[in-house]
Amino acid sequence: MKVELKINGKTMSVDIEARTTLLDCLRDHLGLTGTHAGCEHGICGACTVLLDGEPVRACLMFAVQADGYAITTIEAAAPAPGELSIVQDAFCETHGLQCGYCTPGMILTAEALLRRIPDPSRADIVNAISANICRCTGYVRYYEAIRTVILADPKLTR
Ligand code: FES
Ligand code: FES
Repeated sequence: MKVELKINGKTMSVDIEARTTLLDCLRDHLGLTGTHAGCEHGICGACTVLLDGEPVRACLMFAVQADGYAITTIEAAAPAPGELSIVQDAFCETHGLQCGYCTPGMILTAEALLRRIPDPSRADIVNAISANICRCTGYVRYYEAIRTVILADPKLTR
């Protein structure tokens, strides 16, 4: 079936089977491979994308279910080629990544948190990042990265 999806501000048309997950649609049909496939059953958060600004597991929904929503993938995080978003920059500054597998999902989770809660508490941050599994960093760096963004200039992310 033919579906039109609004992804990163552009309308993209794709011909897929009704059973195609949003994750497979993004990666295999649209070449948006920044969304990572991990567990593929809703546990790890590697496939996190934003739907109308809210983090969702792209492996847990069919692409057709995303029709009508604004989908944001990690490819839209940076303001321009060769540049980093404030959150991406903070992750680099605090060494908030190692192998990088969880990183796209973690960054989108952080972006969503900072838009939803202008000055998140420690509990808010821990609650948000605990939705994504990272086997490398121990999570402290993610907490520091998000605090770095807040301290740098709260207005920049919102
Ligand atoms: S790949 Fe979707 S939650 Fe793990
Ligand atoms: S940086 Fe390796 S899984 Fe998170």
